[in-house]
Amino acid sequence: MAESFSTASITLQDLSRHFGAIMAVDRVNLKIEAGTLVCLLGPSGCGKTTTLRMIAGFEEPTSGRVLLGLEDVTNVPPHARPTAMVFQSYALFPHMSVYENIAYGLRARRRPKAEIAERVGEVVTLMELQGQEKKAPPQLSGGQQQRVALARALVIRPKVLLFDEPLSNLDAQLRVRMRGEIRDLQRRLGITSVYVTHDQEEAFSIADQVAIMNKGRLIQVGTPRELYRQPADRFVAEFVGQSNVLPVEVVESGSNGAVVRLFGQTIRSRRPPPPSSPRAAIVLRPEALRLNKAGGQGVPAHVLGLSYIGPMARYTVGVQDGTVQGGSAQGGAILTVDIYNPGPDEFYPEGTPVSLQFPAEVPSLLGGDNV
Ligand SMILES: Nc1ncnc2c1ncn2[C@@H]1O[C@H](COP(=O)(O)OP(=O)(O)OP(=O)(O)O)[C@@H](O)[C@H]1O
Ligand SMILES: [Mg+2]
Repeated sequence: MAESFSTASITLQDLSRHFGAIMAVDRVNLKIEAGTLVCLLGPSGCGKTTTLRMIAGFEEPTSGRVLLGLEDVTNVPPHARPTAMVFQSYALFPHMSVYENIAYGLRARRRPKAEIAERVGEVVTLMELQGQEKKAPPQLSGGQQQRVALARALVIRPKVLLFDEPLSNLDAQLRVRMRGEIRDLQRRLGITSVYVTHDQEEAFSIADQVAIMNKGRLIQVGTPRELYRQPADRFVAEFVGQSNVLPVEVVESGSNGAVVRLFGQTIRSRRPPPPSSPRAAIVLRPEALRLNKAGGQGVPAHVLGLSYIGPMARYTVGVQDGTVQGGSAQGGAILTVDIYNPGPDEFYPEGTPVSLQFPAEVPSLLGGDNV
């Protein structure tokens, strides 16, 4: 079946959608390469669904353009676009059989009966729904219903697949399995896909590129690794994984990196802080920090709290003003420190004085006024 699919890139140019005073989507520019899966990730209300609906044509942009391949589809109605959408609620017709549900898009397009039977057969096999054709959706499990929804989307051979939180109605285990299935299918068919989720783990596990949105704006696009290692701002640093974001004093800065000071300790950054920003901040991931016995390497600190999360111990550690050496005026801070597989000598109960050790080097720094 793969050979019967053709796909297209997606280009969003200065795309905006306002609802009265609400800027649901605010001048978004994004190029999605053909054959890739891009996740739109961001908190509730940040404009993910509105962006997706503008790609599908269900929502008219206030301004800007949508291109599929080289074709400007901004003014093309949804049914004439080569797009198919899979919804959270599946949106299956409960009184129709699985077969009828899948055939729906082809019937609406008035395809001949024999062609419908052949193409429904293809996607039924593809989605491993053989034997379920005569059942009604309520007789199927959640995972099977989601497969029917996918089959129904694929049967029209769209160039672009759009997913809006397709797995939210499933339990945790099934979500993980289904997201793997969706990813495999997307790879096999090589079909350009946009997948909306507010679940970071889901986005990171399936996407080629993740596009992070906040308050209608596209903040950063990158691979999961890039977003984790080089977040563009505090919002991304805190939204993607756990992080400690702290202001730092820049001692040295050049094209091949920077040196900063934090609580009297020197840390290198492989990249300089963004230009023209008066201040800089460092993102310290909890697993990049270490705890040593009091008096050991690092700055004096106190364990404020400890919890076990699976294979790691998560510490809350306070660095106090009075204990800071080196005359820094940074004041105190509370940091999260993750120790994986802690050994017996790495157990520090609440209240224990410790030495907090920073990494010698970080990939990048943050700049800007929001630090
Ligand atoms: N039809 C509408 N009329 C008025 N406001 C709307 C409409 N659709 C969306 N909005 C507003 O636009 C903003 C973006 O909504 P959108 O549904 O795109 O967010 P989202 O990122 O998909 O959120 P969620 O994760 O909760 O689904 C929100 O403030 C929402 O209230
Ligand atoms: Mg939404």
